Amino acid sequence: MFLQTLSLLNFKNYTEATLHFDQPICCFLGNNGSGKTNLLDAIHYLSVTKSAVNPSDVQNIKLGESQFMIKGRFKMNEKTKEVVCSFQSGQKKIIREDGQDCIKFSEHVGKYPVVLIVPQDIELIWDGSEVRRKFFDSLLSQIDHSYLENLIVYANFLKQRNSALKMFAERGHADRDLLASYNEKIIPAAKFIFKKRKEFLQEFIPTFQKHYQNLSEAKPENMDIQYRSDLEDRDFTELLTKNLLRDIQLQRTSCGIHRDDFLFLLNGNEVKRFGSQGQQKSFLIALKLAEFQMIAKKKKFKPLLLLDDIFDKLDDTRIDKILKLVSEDTFGQLFITDARPERCREILSRMNLNADVVMVENGKFTIS
Ligand SMILES: Nc1ncnc2c1ncn2[C@@H]1O[C@H](COP(=O)(O)OP(=O)(O)O)[C@@H](O)[C@H]1O
Ligand SMILES: [Mg+2]
Repeated sequence: MFLQTLSLLNFKNYTEATLHFDQPICCFLGNNGSGKTNLLDAIHYLSVTKSAVNPSDVQNIKLGESQFMIKGRFKMNEKTKEVVCSFQSGQKKIIREDGQDCIKFSEHVGKYPVVLIVPQDIELIWDGSEVRRKFFDSLLSQIDHSYLENLIVYANFLKQRNSALKMFAERGHADRDLLASYNEKIIPAAKFIFKKRKEFLQEFIPTFQKHYQNLSEAKPENMDIQYRSDLEDRDFTELLTKNLLRDIQLQRTSCGIHRDDFLFLLNGNEVKRFGSQGQQKSFLIALKLAEFQMIAKKKKFKPLLLLDDIFDKLDDTRIDKILKLVSEDTFGQLFITDARPERCREILSRMNLNADVVMVENGKFTIS
């Protein structure tokens, strides 16, 4: 897969812009606030039908305008595919592939996969379980659209179940039939997701560990990911029945896969507490490289790799190791942003890599 052209109309700080890509590596260089991340985000949008930065589509429209459009031309197996994402304030967003409206966005996700590495990835280690679930959900959704469909069903009916529990508390009466009808939808979806998460990790962890060892300079370290779920060793139907009174009291569903966590461990201890800064950085990069490899393996082609401002955060050894993978053809097409053009050029020349260079300034660019 190769993104040949990217066109934007009123997307964030871009009025109208078209970029053509020839080289497997393209660098977006320029000062902070100029619009480099916005370009990566547009590519991300084409892939997963949403922004990685701003979940509010209205805020992705250029200030003062009423709609945005992102268009990408991809080369896939000698054919070209045109993907258009557009959104007009107050209306449903539209995704089109070769002129055909996409009805189910869950079927679009994963067709043009991307892996994004950003400085904010540190939240995966530092924040609560939700970000880690999101990471694995987004990864699994890209490789299996039935996973995403089950996730949507689960989220919808869980929301309805929780609203019903609130209503019961207000009215002082619980409608058990209504709860049973939600459970009927929630239970199979939860079981499906639990099984997929568990199976997936068995394959993912060795891939992740291999990348971690490659990145870390020190002696072999025992980095691991442990999946925790209410559904482990317990039947979800029984669990919901057992917790019914508690759920009514709490006015929310107190067990289920929405509480799952993925523990990041170093020798059995939390990486967040016991990992050095260097170990945490390697952990995150290894996680993302493993994500890339898993998608490539399942899809049988390479996702786009988007590296946002990572040269600021990584030392030369780790940068060289990542770019070595690029030069060894492990990766397909790569987009890099950097606020320091001279550093980026120096790194590319050190690694002997050719790249398209786009200089970005206030939502406009020059090609060099
Ligand atoms: N909806 C929008 N309309 C106009 N400008 C926007 C919008 N959303 C973000 N921006 C602008 O985009 C710029 C940030 O772009 P970004 O790609 O994050 O920069 P960087 O080059 O640092 O990665 C900021 O100047 C911000 O004001
Ligand atoms: Mg940026």
